[in-house]
Amino acid sequence: MRLILVGAPGAGKGTQARMLGEQLQIPHISTGDLLRSAIQRGTLVGLQAKAYMEAGELVPDPIMIRVLEERLREPDCANGFILDGFPRTLSQASYLNTLLERLQTPIEAVVSIEVERDVIIERLSHRLICPSCHRNYNEKTDQPRVQGVCNVCGSGLTHRLDDDAVTVMHRLDVYLREIAPLKEFYRVDGLLRSIDGNASPQVVEERILASLPGTARTKG
Ligand code: AP5
Ligand code: MG
Repeated sequence: MRLILVGAPGAGKGTQARMLGEQLQIPHISTGDLLRSAIQRGTLVGLQAKAYMEAGELVPDPIMIRVLEERLREPDCANGFILDGFPRTLSQASYLNTLLERLQTPIEAVVSIEVERDVIIERLSHRLICPSCHRNYNEKTDQPRVQGVCNVCGSGLTHRLDDDAVTVMHRLDVYLREIAPLKEFYRVDGLLRSIDGNASPQVVEERILASLPGTARTKG
């Protein structure tokens, strides 16, 4: 299936996309992770994106569109994918529609994970990430088996540079500025579902699965 997850910073898009990706056996595509990895590798996209990300600003649409299009061309996307962090603007949404219409593989559902602001701030102040495989953790609610070490690949865990309190506030403002027209775009198409994300990751996953169209809940 082809699914989009939207939600504020810290709403749990990455957490849910990882769990749903395993459940539905389709790739989790996080544009934030793609950009962080481009920064680590010192690519041109990484150099272009770095200052925007550190300031909590959106990376310009033309860069994002190139990044996404390249990723969607990879063979593992043939049977579907979960988009996490894309689209974020109306122009990205409209580009995605045009691209997927051309390929005759339209988006099947858009799930908005709704979480209260104080919960978000609490979650992000305790988030840890693996800079190698991008698995996320939480110092309070989702600790790694060995302190400071990724369960999946054994790399050392770090905090994200844009998770400091001031940048989180700015990212939330940016999100609030963009999200209403984006949701309206998908509501008009009948694709939008809103899910209460103030629950454990397992409960949120069940809510998302229950909201998906019947055929989309199965693998592929
Ligand atoms: P991105 O990486 O997409 O960041 P974001 O949207 O701000 O979202 P986060 O990754 O912070 O939160 P999340 O919803 O994934 O939460 P998570 O699952 O980690 O983008 C970063 C930057 O890249 C942007 O600011 C922008 O600069 C740029 N960018 C990316 N895409 C772009 C685009 N399309 N256009 C332009 N610019 C773009 O969970 C958070 C924490 O909570 C974790 O610790 C987790 O363990 C915990 N947690 C999760 N779920 C639960 C739960 N149910 N209960 C308790 N704890 C939970
Ligand atoms: Mg994320």
